[in-house]
Amino acid sequence: YSVSSAFDFNSALFPLSASGPGYTALGTPNTPTFDLGGQQSLERNKSLTFLNGLSLVIGLIIGSGIFSSPASVNSNVGSPGASLIIWVVCGLLAWTGAASYAELGGAIPLNGGAQVYLSKIFGEWAGFLFTWCAVTVLKPGSSAIIAIIFGEYMVRAVIGADATGASSWINKTIAMLGLLLVTGINCVSTRLGTRSADVFMFLKFVGLLAITVLGIVVAATGFSFDKEALSTVWRHTNWFEGTSTSSSQWAVALYAGLWAYDGWDNTNYVVGEMINPGRDLPRTIHTSLPLVILAYIMANLSYIFVLPATVINASNTVAVAFGQVVLGRIGSLILALVVSGSCFGALNATTFTAGRLVYSAGKEGYIPSVFGTVGLSNRGQHVRLPRRGSRATRLTRWIADEQGFFYTPMYAMVLNFALTAIYIVIGDFTTLTTFYGVASYLFYFASVVGLIVLRVKEPELERPYKCWIVTPIVFCCVSLFLLSRAIFAKPLQALVVFAFIAAGFPLYWWRVGSRAGGKGRKGEGRDWKFWKRWGRF
Ligand code: ARG
Repeated sequence: YSVSSAFDFNSALFPLSASGPGYTALGTPNTPTFDLGGQQSLERNKSLTFLNGLSLVIGLIIGSGIFSSPASVNSNVGSPGASLIIWVVCGLLAWTGAASYAELGGAIPLNGGAQVYLSKIFGEWAGFLFTWCAVTVLKPGSSAIIAIIFGEYMVRAVIGADATGASSWINKTIAMLGLLLVTGINCVSTRLGTRSADVFMFLKFVGLLAITVLGIVVAATGFSFDKEALSTVWRHTNWFEGTSTSSSQWAVALYAGLWAYDGWDNTNYVVGEMINPGRDLPRTIHTSLPLVILAYIMANLSYIFVLPATVINASNTVAVAFGQVVLGRIGSLILALVVSGSCFGALNATTFTAGRLVYSAGKEGYIPSVFGTVGLSNRGQHVRLPRRGSRATRLTRWIADEQGFFYTPMYAMVLNFALTAIYIVIGDFTTLTTFYGVASYLFYFASVVGLIVLRVKEPELERPYKCWIVTPIVFCCVSLFLLSRAIFAKPLQALVVFAFIAAGFPLYWWRVGSRAGGKGRKGEGRDWKFWKRWGRF
C-alpha cells in the first residue's frame, strides 16, 4: 500500500491510542485509519473520561431489569436463596465478559466495539455481520424494549399503579416522546449526552440505595404501611426450600438475570473518544461491575425481606409492589417514577453509543456515508461562542463543548431513532427479547473467542490491559452453554436469528466486496477508507 505513506502526517496528527503516534490497531502502521482530506471526525475530539465511561456502563446496565426481572428469576428457581445465587452468577458472568472486552478495547482503541474487534481478528466480514445485526436489530430493538418499559412506568406513575387498563398506545406514545427527547439531547452535543448519563447514574444509585435502606429498616423494625402484606417467612424458613431442579427453569432465570446485567459492553463502543482508554477502560469495568453486583444483591435482599414470595413471583413490577407495601400509594408512585427515570437514563446511555456504532458503520461504508459524518460542524457551520459573557452565554458555551453544537453523529442518531421507533410501534416484546438474547450472546461469544485467538496470533500487540486468561475461557464456556440451551429450547426462533445474520452476507459483498481493489482482507479492513472516500462513495 504505497498510497498510505502519503498520509503519514494523518496518523501522526491523530494518534489512535495513548501508545503513540502512528500506531494503528487495524492494519499496518501509517495506514490512514482516520479521515482523509481534513474531514471532521468524532475520534479526533477525545473527550471521554473515566467518569463518563463509568456512567455509560452503569447507566445502561441499571435500566429496567433490577426492578422487574426478580419475578422471573424467583418464580423459576423457586427459592430466595437460589435466586440470589442466580444474581451473583449472572453478575460474575457479566464481569468476565466485560473484563475480556476491556482487554480488547485497550488493544484496539477505536469506536465501534465488537465491530472493530471482529474485523481485526476474523476479517472484515465478521465485523460487518455484527454491524448489520447491531444496527438493524440489537441496538434499536433493545432501545425499544427499554423505551416501552419507560412508557409503562411513566403511565403508572401518572395514572396510578393499577393502570393496566390503559391502552398500550398511551405507553407507546410516551415511549416515543422519551426516545425523541433522548435523541435530541444526544444530537446537541457530546457533553450534554454524557452529562445526562452522569446525572442519571447518580440517581439510579440513589434509587437502589433507597430500596436497600427501606428494606433494612422494614426488616429490622417491622415498620411498613401494609403490615398484612409484609413478608415474615424469611425469618423462619430455609432459604433454599422449594428450589427447582429443572435445568431449563434455571436457564430461563439466568436469561432474566442476564438481561438485568446486560449493557456491560457499552463503553467499548466509544473507546476511540476516550482520553486514555488503556487506563480508563479497565478501571471503568472493574469499578462498575462490582458496584452493580453489590447494588443488585442488596436490592434483591430488600425485596425478599419485604415481600412474600407469592407477591414477588406474581408481579412483573416488583419495585412498585415494594413501594406499595412499605409506603402505600405514595410509595408505589415514587417507585414508578424511579423506575421510569432509570429506564430513561438507560435509554440515554444506549442512544449515545448506538449513534457512535451507526456512525462507524457509515465511516466504513457499510451504510451510506452520510451516516458516518458529524453534524453541522461538518460544513463548518457549528456555533462558536465567545469565552466570556453573560451566564447564559457561558452555559450555552459549556453545552456546546469545545467543538460547537452538533459535533455529534447526528445523522446516525436520526437513523437509530427511526429504527427504534419502528420497533416501538410494531415490536413484540417476547420476540424482541429472545432475538436479542441469542444474537447478542452469539457476538459476545465470538468476540471473546477472538480475544484468545488474538493472544495466540499477535502476542506482540500492545495490550495496555491484559485480563487473566481464565476470564475469557469461563465466559466462553458459559455463553456456549446458554446459546445451546436456547437453540434446543427454541430451535425455530434460533434458526430465524441465524438466517437473519446470514442475510448479511449478500450485503457484505455488495457494500464491501465490490469496493475498488476487491474484498476486505483480514486485519486490513480500514485500508479501504482511501478508496471509499475517493472512489465509490
Ligand atoms: N440491563 C438493562 C436493563 O436492565 C438492559 C440493557 C439492554 N442492553 C443493551 N445493550 N441495550 O434494562
